[in-house]
Amino acid sequence: MYRHKATELLVAARTERVRHDVGYNSRFGRWDALAGVRTRPQRSFEGLAALYFPPELHPVVTHPLVAGRGEDAVEWLLVRRLHDYLDFTSELESLGVIPVATAISRGRSGLHLPQGMRADAFKIVTDEAWHAQGSYDFAQQLQRVSGVSPGRSHSSPPAFAGRLDIIRDGLADEVRGVEAIVFAVVSETLISGVLSAIPRDERLSKSVRDHVRDHAEDEGRHHVYFRSVLRHLWSALTPKERSAVGPCVPAAIYAFLEPDYARVIEDLRLVGLSERDVEQVVEESWPKERVVREVSEASRSLVRYFCEVGALGDPATRSSFEESGLMVCG
Ligand SMILES: [Fe+2]
Ligand SMILES: [Fe+2]
Repeated sequence: MYRHKATELLVAARTERVRHDVGYNSRFGRWDALAGVRTRPQRSFEGLAALYFPPELHPVVTHPLVAGRGEDAVEWLLVRRLHDYLDFTSELESLGVIPVATAISRGRSGLHLPQGMRADAFKIVTDEAWHAQGSYDFAQQLQRVSGVSPGRSHSSPPAFAGRLDIIRDGLADEVRGVEAIVFAVVSETLISGVLSAIPRDERLSKSVRDHVRDHAEDEGRHHVYFRSVLRHLWSALTPKERSAVGPCVPAAIYAFLEPDYARVIEDLRLVGLSERDVEQVVEESWPKERVVREVSEASRSLVRYFCEVGALGDPATRSSFEESGLMVCG
């Protein structure tokens, strides 16, 4: 098993070389002087602020059926949302990004990447391990200070894991595994609302803002890197493989950005809402048009990157993007 693991490729081996050399400009030359793990202290959750999490990013708390439960219930839901964000981050790094960056660093991605990209992948692994560790430790402190546990029934993972399984199961054998790289590209090049909004939100504790800002700064470098990975990936896939993988990209985008309904439903039940009220709150907080609009706006740059590599030239891929409400280039 270990010998197999040491040689197994994420994308099936190809004899053909990449047709054109897509150059690489490393953004990690000053990594020692810039990376959070090298330059900043680990943030500790401190003190109570006006808010634990922006209600605009967790709209169920402003729904009258929830707000009517009182301030304590709203605050509890916002602490749980912050816990979910921290858990999501640790899981995303561990399950979604580190395995792909590790495969690249060890020459097991199946892509013909410049040496510099392999070397930089080690730095990304280190950054992401730091983010996962920092998020876990921060959650422990949050639990101690707030008294609110992050626990989930059956230790269920964040929703993106199950959504990724569905994508993987739907792929043909010859391209199964590519979803891991696609999801890493998607999650590393999308700036989530949390990452961009929290550092600027003065209603939150400074420690929360600093924790998220530190992460966002590292992610700026990762963004450029994974945009480059996408160029290499798409030029390595055959036209048949592209039309097998391309239509799944919107699902990968939604897997990352769509709210984790199961966790919200669990929390709404725990604050005492009836099943009917839970259903109503979720439906009215995230009507389909709102989800599509927000995902579409958040993924605008990413969709452009897929356009740039020619992914939308495939009719099935284009219609999948259009049907998912994602803004498609002309
Ligand atoms: Fe990260
Ligand atoms: Fe990252």
